[in-house]
Amino acid sequence: MKPVTQMGAVVLVLFTIGAFISPVRSLDNGLALKPTMGWLHWERFMCNVDCDTDPNNCISENLYMQMADVMVMEGWKEAGYEYVCIDDCWPSHQRDAKGRLQADPKRFPRGIKKLADYVHSKGLKLGIYADLGTFTCGGFPGSLGYYDIDAQTFADWGVDLLKFDGCYMKWTLLGEGYTNMSIALNQTGRSILYSCEWPLYEWPYHQPDYAAIRKVCNHWRNFADVYDSWDSVKTILDWTADHQDVIVPAAGPGGWNDPDMLVIGNFGLSHAQQESQMALWAIMAAPLLMSNDLRDICPRSKQLLQNTRIIDISQDPLGRQGYRTAKVDSFEVWERHLSGGRLALAVMNKQEIGGPRGFPLTLATLPSWKICHPQCNVTQVLPSYKELGVQTLLSKLVVVVNPSGTALLTVTPI
Ligand code: GLA
Repeated sequence: MKPVTQMGAVVLVLFTIGAFISPVRSLDNGLALKPTMGWLHWERFMCNVDCDTDPNNCISENLYMQMADVMVMEGWKEAGYEYVCIDDCWPSHQRDAKGRLQADPKRFPRGIKKLADYVHSKGLKLGIYADLGTFTCGGFPGSLGYYDIDAQTFADWGVDLLKFDGCYMKWTLLGEGYTNMSIALNQTGRSILYSCEWPLYEWPYHQPDYAAIRKVCNHWRNFADVYDSWDSVKTILDWTADHQDVIVPAAGPGGWNDPDMLVIGNFGLSHAQQESQMALWAIMAAPLLMSNDLRDICPRSKQLLQNTRIIDISQDPLGRQGYRTAKVDSFEVWERHLSGGRLALAVMNKQEIGGPRGFPLTLATLPSWKICHPQCNVTQVLPSYKELGVQTLLSKLVVVVNPSGTALLTVTPI
């Protein structure tokens, strides 16, 4: 055996300590080392299966092919959005003679494998949806009793992500179901990112075991479905902050809390509210799965979703989820620790009357402002990009925040 060098010994000791103190082990499939980025059909297109009257918006292979085309042509792929994901309502109501799920033949005449090939030819990845119970939430065939067959079918088709829902299943069997599907996916030998809704369906009964969930899933939904409204986004943020002590420690490379899709570019959010969703989803290290119509999206929403400074915060390699640190005077402050000792700061103005309001960045409002001792460099990312320059503990910096909007900043210690 080669003698261990001094440096090697130090590394070995650090590695061994690391193995013991590493808080929660993640699913060992090497995926989702950063929050997943892509597009998912549900919030915008739901269970529209009526291709006769609405061929452009129904759940069909055309929808995903067109989204994949736009993602490549319009800079989405370059910005990091990689997964094109099918949600509920894609399958036929009948399994085939061998018990395999099959796509609805009218809406997916070429089948999912061909669709996956198409998406892959664009340099993108394909996601699909199934359910661990007897039916999907939309009433299509569930996977109960078919986990191995379904996992193998998805792998044979070349699927890259599975969103596995939890409808029509006894809640006490969720852990077993999610774990068994995870094993079935791993046994196919194909890398398939595993998106779960396990904790969402357990919360009504008891506090979920996040260490167990993190070992099985790459991300997991905790709370209700997002709607195209500011109320919905606010409720999700409140739920997250109210449960942050339980859920934030579970997040890290390989496994993330999923507050559901980005609805930016749809109908329900003002521009300031869209900025809030984007900023806070980045702070929460959330998967960035857009559900909108990329074929027809307003340029401002597009610019926001493709803002590289916000995406860099979301994808920060340290992989720590941020959390709410203060509620002051109808402002909320959220912070996320970034690599290099930097900090991302989001200040949200919750007062939905009046105009823009100033929020002073001081030690009194913001204990972590101490990273500005002796000096720090501050950049405003939202609502507009501005270098705010070198600051100290005694600076009198005020950021101006629009009603229901968010100022997003990064702070770099010097
Ligand atoms: C559940 C999920 C949603 C969506 C629908 C589909 O409600 O939480 O995200 O997948 O099912 O039916």
